[in-house]
Amino acid sequence: MLTIGINYSQMHDSSACIVRDGELLFAVAEERLSRVKHDSGFPHLAIRACLDFAKVRSENLDEVCFAWQRPGATLRHDLKCYGLGALPLGYLMVLNSFRHFASMAHQDGGAKRFFHHFGATRARMRFVDHHLSHALSAFAYSGFRESTVVVMDGRGAWEATSIWYGYNGGLTHVQTIPWPNSLGLFYAEFTGYLGFQKYSDEWKVMGLAPYGQAAVSLREFIVPEDAPYWVNHKRLLAGASSGGQAGIERSFGAGRAPESEIDDRHKNIAFAVQEACEQAMMTVVRMAIDKTHCRNLCLAGGVALNSKANGKILASGVAERLFIQPAAADDGAALGAALAPYLEGGRHLPQTAMRHAYLGPASSDEEIESSLRTYKLRYTRLDDPAQTAAELLSQGKILGWFQGRMEFGPRALGSRSILADPRDPEMNAKVNNAVKFREWWRPFAPSMLAEVAPDYLESAFDSPYMVVTAQVKPEKRSVIPSVTHVDGSARPQTVEQSVNPLYWRLISEFGKRTGVPVVMNTSFNLRGEAIVHSPTDAVRTFFSSGMDALVIGCFLVEK
Ligand SMILES: [Fe+2]
Repeated sequence: MLTIGINYSQMHDSSACIVRDGELLFAVAEERLSRVKHDSGFPHLAIRACLDFAKVRSENLDEVCFAWQRPGATLRHDLKCYGLGALPLGYLMVLNSFRHFASMAHQDGGAKRFFHHFGATRARMRFVDHHLSHALSAFAYSGFRESTVVVMDGRGAWEATSIWYGYNGGLTHVQTIPWPNSLGLFYAEFTGYLGFQKYSDEWKVMGLAPYGQAAVSLREFIVPEDAPYWVNHKRLLAGASSGGQAGIERSFGAGRAPESEIDDRHKNIAFAVQEACEQAMMTVVRMAIDKTHCRNLCLAGGVALNSKANGKILASGVAERLFIQPAAADDGAALGAALAPYLEGGRHLPQTAMRHAYLGPASSDEEIESSLRTYKLRYTRLDDPAQTAAELLSQGKILGWFQGRMEFGPRALGSRSILADPRDPEMNAKVNNAVKFREWWRPFAPSMLAEVAPDYLESAFDSPYMVVTAQVKPEKRSVIPSVTHVDGSARPQTVEQSVNPLYWRLISEFGKRTGVPVVMNTSFNLRGEAIVHSPTDAVRTFFSSGMDALVIGCFLVEK
């Protein structure tokens, strides 16, 4: 059986993947190919890349599975909320609900766009509940035979948080907390109030939080400890009709203008938002495990990318084992949608433990060299890219590192990465100012050999995807200062030799030279841009930034 999974809700992070007989072959977000960050358009480039990778045509497909309900489900729920007074009845809000419906209905949820781009197909068009898609995307790749599954995001057509129970290749629905009682909504509205982009810049609030202190009460906006949790969506959405945030401003004054200075008030609000989110996530997880009596836990949905909260859930011991699908946000919902056919007809879900997120396109050395020649760049062919990169890093150089298949999900994991020396306390500022051009408070993350994780970290030893935060051991904080956050935490990637031998060897070689088998790893992109996908993207980004060298395939380009 050959299925395509598609995320296309016209909201954000369109993507596609292809699954053959239960095996996930390839996945990519549209933004990487279109170069439009968080691209919400129909992912025709991503679908084309899936078909090309699998060397099939659309007529070979059995199922085309969208990770969003049929057009109408969202509008029906919104209208119910307006009727019940759960949403502020404003002209713009209602207009937006109808506009979204009209646009999705016009395209038959994306099916018509599929036919337009790829022609007729015998494949069945399937529309999968959004949270079911998220839940499948986590459970089926966890490797757990039995698991509690919790999905938390901004919204599905009608869901905000949902609980599932996975067992032996099946998945049972346990409970749904409907939108707008939504943790994603809560975090996003405060993200907007703090001068950042709602539903994409939540990282910035999470990074800012440790600079604040407990000085602000958010009781008017959220009660996180009463199961499941309660979000005051009416207050949060007050003024939304006019694009404003009157409800939050009533408590805390005018919102921060984008790019303006950050003061203590902003830091303290960020602290309170993060803390409330952590408490609410913990409440939901405890409630879910109470219901299922299973302490294996899978998390998915955009809220599950809150690595700080995930670290606390893990450290609390409430769950015995934790799996977070690395593309936990909506791009990854495509992975689950593609598996929906396996819930029917006596089939079983594939239950393969996901071992890596290198699911995207790759460029051969021939293609890379051809690009370098086209741009008339001087380059050197390397016998051993890992050795050369390690040597350059040990000299304090900032490197672009472009190798193998691109990662699926928001994190760069050693395929499309910018690397630097984590021992230099100034490196955080150097990379921020010269390369990433991003906010001073945002932390950088370490990639370390899996073997040394217990030497450096107090927990989260098995952290292949950078979605769980751990505390760095106090005696190691001065050893890797540029990847240790102000509160002593880090968001590690533990690298196993069998999973990514080239990247493992680079870190190992760096360790031989410096005694520290850890590198600073951040995504290979500039601020506001999608992570690089092609050699052309890599070269353009390299020359638009303060990187010193680019190791791309088996070639070295220096400035
Ligand atoms: Fe979602």
